[in-house]
Amino acid sequence: MDHHIEDYIQEIKTRINIVDFIGKYVSLRKAGQNFVGLCPFHVEKTPSFTVNPRKEIFYCFGCHTGGDIIHFVEKFEGLTFQEAVEELGKNAGLEPPKWGHRRSDSQYNPWFEFLETCSQYFQKNMNQHPEAQAYLQKRGIHASTIATFQIGFAPPDPKDFISFFTKLGFQKEDAKTLGLVREKDDGYTYPYFRNRVVFPILDLRKRVIGFGGRAIDQEQMPKYLNSPDYPLFHKGENLYALSLARSSMNREKSAILVEGYMDVISLYQHGITNVTASLGTAFTLEQAKLLRKYSDTLYICYDADEAGKKAILRSIDIVLPMGFPCRVIQIPKPYKDPDDFIIAKGKEAFLHQMKTAKGALEYCWEALTEGKNLQDPITASAVVESIFRRFMKVKDPVRIESLLKQISLDIKIKPSLLEERLYSMSRGSLSGRRKTNSKRSKQDSETIIDERDATLVLKAMITHPKDWAGIIFTKLHKEDFPTGIFRDLFTEFYELFQEKKSIQVENFQEDPDKEIFYSKLMELQNMNNKCIEGDVIPQILCHVDAVRKKKNILIPLQERVNKAELEGNFEESKRLRVEILRISREEY
Ligand code: GTP
Ligand code: MN
Repeated sequence: MDHHIEDYIQEIKTRINIVDFIGKYVSLRKAGQNFVGLCPFHVEKTPSFTVNPRKEIFYCFGCHTGGDIIHFVEKFEGLTFQEAVEELGKNAGLEPPKWGHRRSDSQYNPWFEFLETCSQYFQKNMNQHPEAQAYLQKRGIHASTIATFQIGFAPPDPKDFISFFTKLGFQKEDAKTLGLVREKDDGYTYPYFRNRVVFPILDLRKRVIGFGGRAIDQEQMPKYLNSPDYPLFHKGENLYALSLARSSMNREKSAILVEGYMDVISLYQHGITNVTASLGTAFTLEQAKLLRKYSDTLYICYDADEAGKKAILRSIDIVLPMGFPCRVIQIPKPYKDPDDFIIAKGKEAFLHQMKTAKGALEYCWEALTEGKNLQDPITASAVVESIFRRFMKVKDPVRIESLLKQISLDIKIKPSLLEERLYSMSRGSLSGRRKTNSKRSKQDSETIIDERDATLVLKAMITHPKDWAGIIFTKLHKEDFPTGIFRDLFTEFYELFQEKKSIQVENFQEDPDKEIFYSKLMELQNMNNKCIEGDVIPQILCHVDAVRKKKNILIPLQERVNKAELEGNFEESKRLRVEILRISREEY
């Protein structure tokens, strides 16, 4: 590192007190010479994260993450070293550092440049197309907001875009991978986004990673198009406008999650800036974890329709087991989403809805019981079962206690009886799980894939279906999977795949026949995506190939042994046995 940068970092450390700085993200208390708090880098209940102001370092005894203030920012904000230094320099009121001539290009990927170039192309077209501006104006979006969100326009003319990027030296193949163009069977290539307002999706480092496009004509279908998933862009792992929202999430200690791009933009324009949305797909655990980094409370504010209600329940099911406090902001009638509500009623009215937002469990109870006759014992029993399933994921008994009283009033059953039911349900679920596990492992010693690998394969298919489903279905058959839930789920996925339907958790939601799949899927979704990174899945597939090859060779060999012995040809049988031994010992 050159001297300038060393001095620069020293200056940052002189100006910024590490305890004050980290204290903005982590609640710290003094313990001897150090300060301690709950580690932001792993989930824990008792503090093992320490900050030492004298040495100007932090260290976690739980996950062994540690370093100086630069390291903290790198890790916490997901920045590179250079970016962390620049960010802290700004924070300390310093001029930007001088990095010398070359920028580090270790993270450089030509796709970023391509996507950025396209984003600028769309923005330029926004300026040149009054009909696009008129559309946004009609929806109340100001010019300054268009600039903030870098909103662009993809013109209807299919020729211009392709000649634009080929002239700049970008390849059609890349454009295809990035979902920017499509190719017909006869080779005719055309832009994917046409006659649409385009919302660039940025990562936390403000690099364009994908696009969402909204039709501007009523009859144009579908209403929204999104970039497909590809290695730079996984919809389930990014959130719309998070790079704009995260600092205010940090300040407010809360995040507002809405359904649509337009909801984000509209709230933001009205001064509610701690707002984000998932990218046209369901909210995932990865996204929840991302938001947890910046906020203490998640506010869900989805559309006021049936689909919105279902989506709220599903998102709550994701955050409950995380212990991420969650509330639900409801949009009162006759408004349909946060966008048209805030346009009609203004910021204060929205903040009022936010202040009176219900707790997640209270919301669930109301949503589950709405319009139902709770005096009918069968109905009552079903909704109680449903809410108790959620209770079992919550660790804080105080939250359950007050709601239990409410439930007991609503269905007119003594609280003590309800408590008994809850208690027996949680015991039942534990012992039930143990039993099936031990039964299964015996049965399945025969299958190629064990439970651990089956878990990873299914996890990969729901996390990145585009990457994995095709290859997995060509390599694996349901007979390779342990019987029971693993094999059944694989079969369900296969059916969806054959029907060209997407493999996603929603397909299993709130369908009583698929309840068992749903909870297994939630469990899979709640696993850290790291477990399927790298070559984990290819290794499993290789292993399967090897086992299959062996089976194809070994079984006929064994049959020849049997035959040779029957015929009294012991020389042949011995030779074959040695061969079998050799093959079985081969590494795979
Ligand atoms: P408008 O206000 O009508 O522009 O849309 P919205 O922002 O209110 O979105 P809506 O609630 O209709 O949908 C929420 C989100 O789901 C959108 O922002 C899109 O990301 C996604 N979405 C909606 N319709 C479609 C569609 O037809 N196809 C795809 N792929 N995604 C859609
Ligand atoms: Mn809308």
